[in-house]
Amino acid sequence: MAVRRLAPAEVQPSSFAFTAENAVWAGEQIAKYPEGRQASAVISLLWKAQEQCGGWLPEAAIRNVAELLGMAYIRVLEVATFYTMFNLEPVGKYFVQLCGTTPCMVRGAGALRDALQARFGDQHHVSADGNFCWLEVECLGACANAPMVQINNDYYEDLTPESLNTLLDDLAAGKPVKIGPQNGRTSSEPAGGLTSLTDPALYDGSVIGTWKKRFEEEEAKAKAAAEEKAKAEAAAAAAEAAEVKEPAKSAGTRPEQQAADTPAERVAEGKAPVSAEDKTKAAPTNPPEEHERAKDKGAVPTVGGKPSDPDDKAKG
Ligand code: FES
Repeated sequence: MAVRRLAPAEVQPSSFAFTAENAVWAGEQIAKYPEGRQASAVISLLWKAQEQCGGWLPEAAIRNVAELLGMAYIRVLEVATFYTMFNLEPVGKYFVQLCGTTPCMVRGAGALRDALQARFGDQHHVSADGNFCWLEVECLGACANAPMVQINNDYYEDLTPESLNTLLDDLAAGKPVKIGPQNGRTSSEPAGGLTSLTDPALYDGSVIGTWKKRFEEEEAKAKAAAEEKAKAEAAAAAAEAAEVKEPAKSAGTRPEQQAADTPAERVAEGKAPVSAEDKTKAAPTNPPEEHERAKDKGAVPTVGGKPSDPDDKAKG
């Protein structure tokens, strides 16, 4: 990026003041911000000052904006020199900004730059009649119509060196020019005609009802299917519930019976929890005496398949 300095003293006006109309406008911009935040209007005011000065910002205008906003001059100067939208030197009646960023460059911005150089000389140089000067800038956001230039506040797109020269000739002659694409396009539609959404019915208002009807039919179909599914699910759930209520009487399976003569029942009937018969059954099968007799005979009685030793019980 080039160093951005104020224009030489010989071209600087001695003073600047907004016109009455612009002063009112400036007051409205400042009033948009809360008390103490008037500095937020700095770009708006600098832009209006540049417009009033014929497309560039003299030092006096920068100082005037600083006073209006209660800002230090250096703060406003920083803004004016940082943003390339502010021109610090006089420009021609038609200020041509050529986009030189990649999309425009691959689409022929180099040839446009050569055409401008050949016609007007170096950048920043105002033509002898005071009508033109040009500058290469970064992307202007119209890449879909590359290559392009901005002249004052308007875009001219889809340019070739020939169409650019024709455009500049017309401007110089004071003829009306067409803003926007210069190759017959309306905006950024495909240059070779439509390649998708080519069905004319899409753009035929008279068939809108047909599409609407089809949507309604599809909606009704989906609704009916959902209802059918809900009914089937409800029927399945009811059948399952009925099965749980009536257990199947399957052949060969004895119905479950309540256990009889349990300790709880015996206690409820006022009897001992363990019957005499159960006690007998639970008595040890190998009493100690029997164990000793077995030992003497060389046969050790077993419990659960393992040799049992009454001494172990005593130890335990
Ligand atoms: S690259 Fe040129 S307009 Fe974006």
